[in-house]
Amino acid sequence: MKKSFGLLVGAALIAISGQVAANEAEEIGAKIYDRAFGRGCGACHDIASNPQLKELIKAGKLPKDQFATVLKNGKNGMPKAVEAIMAVGPVKKAGYTEDQAIDAVYSYLSK
Ligand code: HEC
Repeated sequence: MKKSFGLLVGAALIAISGQVAANEAEEIGAKIYDRAFGRGCGACHDIASNPQLKELIKAGKLPKDQFATVLKNGKNGMPKAVEAIMAVGPVKKAGYTEDQAIDAVYSYLSK
C-alpha cells in the first residue's frame, strides 16, 4: 500500500516537472519571438504577405526539421536567425543549446 502510494506520487511529480519544463520552453519561445533581432520575428512574420508561422505549423505544413533548417541557413528575405536567437536574454539565462532554443520557439508557435 505504502509502496504503491510512493510510486503514484513519484509518477505525479514526474508528470508535473515535465509540464513545468514544457511551460518554460513555451515562455522562452515567446520571448525569442518577441525579442530576436531586437524587434522580434513578428516584425516580419506578423505582416500578412510573409509566411504565417503559427498557421503553417498548425496546418502541418512546416515540420520542425524544415523550421530549424531555415533558422540555421536563412532563406531569401529570411535572415539566418540562430545567432540572434542565442543572444536573447532568457535563452542565455536558461543555458539553452541551439536545438533547445529552436524547439522552444517551435513549441510556442505550435500552441
Ligand atoms: C527581416 C524580416 C524577417 C525576420 C526578422 C524574420 N523572418 Fe522569418 N522569414 C522572412 C521572410 C521574408 C520569409 C520567406 C522567405 C522565402 O520563403 O522566400 C521567412 C521565412 C521563414 C521561415 C520559413 C517558412 C517556410 O514556410 O519555409 C521560418 C521557419 C521563419 N521565417 C522563422 C522565423 C523566426 C523564428 C524568426 C525570429 C527568430 C524570423 N523568421 C524572423 C522574414 C523574416
